[in-house]
Amino acid sequence: MRNAVRQRKSGVDAIVAQGTEAGGHTGTVASLPLIPQVVDAVNPTPVIAAGGIADGRGIVAALVLGAQATWLGTAFLVADECELFDSCKDQIVAADSEAFRVSKVWTGKTVRAFHGEISQAWAESGLPTLETPYQRILMEDFLSAALAAGRHDLFYNIAGQAGGLLKARRPARDIMTDLVDGAVHEIRRLQRDVRISLA
Ligand SMILES: Cc1cc2nc3c(=O)[nH]c(=O)nc-3n(C[C@H](O)[C@H](O)[C@H](O)COP(=O)(O)O)c2cc1C
Repeated sequence: MRNAVRQRKSGVDAIVAQGTEAGGHTGTVASLPLIPQVVDAVNPTPVIAAGGIADGRGIVAALVLGAQATWLGTAFLVADECELFDSCKDQIVAADSEAFRVSKVWTGKTVRAFHGEISQAWAESGLPTLETPYQRILMEDFLSAALAAGRHDLFYNIAGQAGGLLKARRPARDIMTDLVDGAVHEIRRLQRDVRISLA
């Protein structure tokens, strides 16, 4: 929130508000409470909602919360066009939302990624992480070795809780079409249902 207000004061054109559900470096507040608070705090600067959105329902929910647009990352990791290893895409498709957890093991800062053997082993070790950028440098050696050994299952698979909504690897075009069609469907459903219940 402090960051959003600071960005508004610096005169940016729009602000991305990313909830903790998101893949990558992330904070602690979930999208549902975060987005309306940022919308209120930076009004009239447009807010782009991020974190946990992977279908038309999520897009419409973000618009209802006051966002002007949405920003998706995890949903496109399983696109055929995405250069992520197929085995990492399969990890995402097979996992439920609980499998995408925050750990400092990768960079020394809180990153949400697929929780596999590495983040599990680090958590169990009780070891403290090094400060950024030293933890990342430490892990780069390990990741190079894992890649050289073909152990893509141990790779740093950054992804968010929206991974639980993803059921198959698909072309980006199909993902995009479903997002747009899904959002339109939800808006029409709301128009219809809300009119009935208000009548
Ligand atoms: C693989 C991956 C890499 C990312 N790298 C960055 C990055 O370098 N800088 C950044 O600001 N956000 C980064 N993000 C966060 C995205 O820009 C976006 O805010 C986030 O993916 C939205 O939430 P979602 O993952 O639930 O869709 C990354 C996200 C993913 C999934």
